[in-house]
Amino acid sequence: MGSLLSVCDIKDDVKYILDLASKIKAGEVEDKPLEDKTLAMIFQKSSTRTRVSFDVGMYQLGGRAIFLSSNDLQMGRGEPISDTAKVLSRFVDGIMIRAIKHSDVEELAKYADVPVINGLTDLEHPCQALADMLTIKEHLGDWEGKKICFVGDGNNVSNSLLLISPLLGMDMSMACPKGYEPNENILKIANEYASENGTEITVTDDIGVALENVDAVFTDVWVSMGDEAEKAQREKDFAPFQVNSDLMSLANDGAIFLHCLPAVRGQEVTSDVIDGPQSVVYDEAENRMHAQKAVLYYYMKD
Ligand code: CP
Ligand code: NVA
Repeated sequence: MGSLLSVCDIKDDVKYILDLASKIKAGEVEDKPLEDKTLAMIFQKSSTRTRVSFDVGMYQLGGRAIFLSSNDLQMGRGEPISDTAKVLSRFVDGIMIRAIKHSDVEELAKYADVPVINGLTDLEHPCQALADMLTIKEHLGDWEGKKICFVGDGNNVSNSLLLISPLLGMDMSMACPKGYEPNENILKIANEYASENGTEITVTDDIGVALENVDAVFTDVWVSMGDEAEKAQREKDFAPFQVNSDLMSLANDGAIFLHCLPAVRGQEVTSDVIDGPQSVVYDEAENRMHAQKAVLYYYMKD
């Protein structure tokens, strides 16, 4: 069945998984499909949503989750990732990992005999992108023909959005300061998906251009976990890219606002926007669990 390290891994099944997520959310799947299944959850970084939504999600599917802080694992003391993968595979039915380096998750998946699910790395956040797309569908009715804009850093969250939006027939623009553009390889693949699906991707530092005809505005923190040393420089570089009511007024009337959270009010987004009527951030957070239950079902059900 493979693993979910990148949106690319579910290229042909994104719609199926999102449809399953809607059904699971509506209570339309069988009771306890993952009875007696265990998910190991390895965290090398902090988390509120990912940890709780996977844990509760496994419980609601009839299984259980084990929280493993990398500080407490032998891996944190230097045990090889390959041995960790092989040993955990003898005990559990799936591994969710939030890691500092994407390459570590690839290595874990290479040696694991069970599915590995990426719960955020420096490169991607595919579970967030799935939850975001479920939220778009619920609030905008459909994906096809819609346009989303990500304002801010070319980071893990925007990388996964760049990959997923063309797969669902959506255009995507990114407004980011020079020097903070998305990963080149991600952009190359996203552009391939866009040409296969007849959609468009625009990356620009011109906010006016990026916000043209946009139905959903996304942003994320200016300083991601691991970028703390660049905090002062980033706050300066991203200041013109704050999502405030002036910026929101450049999008279509009725455009929605999304943020993966945690947010820093007064930096990447003002309170009037994130706490205002266009914001759907708490539906988006809730949808982490529904989308991930579909992922767990897809990868772990016999
Ligand atoms: N959005 C997200 O992944 O949140 P956590 O860092 O709280 O898991
Ligand atoms: N880009 C952020 C997302 C947090 C959920 C980070 O990596 O810290």
